[in-house]
Amino acid sequence: MYNAKAYAAGSATSPLASTTIARRDPTEHDVQIEISFCGICHSDLHQVRNEWNNVMPTVYPCVPGHEIVGRVTRVGSAVTRFKPGDLGAVGCMVDSDGTCPECQAGLEQFCRNGAFTYNFPDKHLGGVTYGGYSDSVVVDERFVLRVPSNLDLAGAAPLLCAGITTYSPMRHWGVTKGKKVGVVGLGGLGHMGVKFAHALGAHVVVFTTPPGKKEDALRLGADEVVISRNADEMRKHAGSFDFILDAVSADHDINAYIQLLRRDGNITIVGAPEKPLAVSVFSLIMGRRSFSGSPIGGIPETQEMLDFCSAHNIISDVEVIPIQKVNEAYERLLKSDVKYRFSIDMASLKSE
Ligand SMILES: NC(=O)c1ccc[n+]([C@@H]2O[C@H](COP(=O)([O-])OP(=O)(O)OC[C@H]3O[C@@H](n4cnc5c(N)ncnc54)[C@H](OP(=O)(O)O)[C@@H]3O)[C@@H](O)[C@H]2O)c1
Ligand SMILES: [Zn+2]
Ligand SMILES: [Zn+2]
Repeated sequence: MYNAKAYAAGSATSPLASTTIARRDPTEHDVQIEISFCGICHSDLHQVRNEWNNVMPTVYPCVPGHEIVGRVTRVGSAVTRFKPGDLGAVGCMVDSDGTCPECQAGLEQFCRNGAFTYNFPDKHLGGVTYGGYSDSVVVDERFVLRVPSNLDLAGAAPLLCAGITTYSPMRHWGVTKGKKVGVVGLGGLGHMGVKFAHALGAHVVVFTTPPGKKEDALRLGADEVVISRNADEMRKHAGSFDFILDAVSADHDINAYIQLLRRDGNITIVGAPEKPLAVSVFSLIMGRRSFSGSPIGGIPETQEMLDFCSAHNIISDVEVIPIQKVNEAYERLLKSDVKYRFSIDMASLKSE
């Protein structure tokens, strides 16, 4: 065991603060990574503030962070895919049984014996797992991704959650050239969804609340932008979408979007608001439309996504901050005041 520097929340109402945490020494299958950048996902904020209390209550202290990129510093004796000095990345998962049908299919996100990167029982040290707001992390080699060398590291970090969470449902629901695709909410996830839908050749429509994001949405790859509070603008698109990705973090009217799907169209929600949404079943029934959800993506697909980003020169638009600004960043995230993801420069932790 060794001590790592980290930022942790001590309760649902306290700010994140500097601390030290115990990490395990790499076992034979483990990779130790010195973390260069860690993205700030809205899930970090939900979890730190215990907003998902009904589903996954937060255990304190909580060290969030699951958009991790860095340099490999040590590897266990049985590790074959990484050596010290390599780039490595870790997303939302750090373990699974490897044997169940989901794992065999490369869909580890559905494994019943999996482990999340933070706030999950830690089978090695007891307590819970600690995430990437830290100077290092130790992870089983099976959950370490390869970072293509042409990707800027600060902008690559958010691919590990915001990237795969938007890429995976688009691939699953067949987003391709000729499809009309909507992306609701131009935040960290949403802006990645726009980039992927555009790169996959779809006609992309962004739904956003503030008019100020229109130019950005077009620059990111949207063909059209709809201000969702404008009912006339919404009505023009009725019954026309093949697929809509909903990446909104707060309560909102999902029915306004279901009505925009064509027959057999699908809306997939990846946003995880605190409270249940009310769904009008008639708008689903009448168009044989479907409403589904999607969690992150499996390890093989996460690597596929990173390689797709490498080939298409895709990274997240980031604002790099030192860890000391993390509490301010959370307040700004709540106001959608970030273009479009905070990425923490973990070198800033050295001065703590
Ligand atoms: N399914 C998964 O596996 C998964 C993975 C990662 C994250 N998530 C969840 O996905 C959600 C989004 O995460 P994120 O990191 O992208 O968050 P984010 O950067 O804060 O983006 C959320 C966006 O939602 C829109 N929004 C916020 N409040 C709204 C409101 N009251 N009404 C309408 N629109 C509103 C805003 O877009 P506009 O300003 O354009 O309107 C905002 O930019 C979070 O709930 C997060 O926990 C799920
Ligand atoms: Zn996330
Ligand atoms: Zn499994």
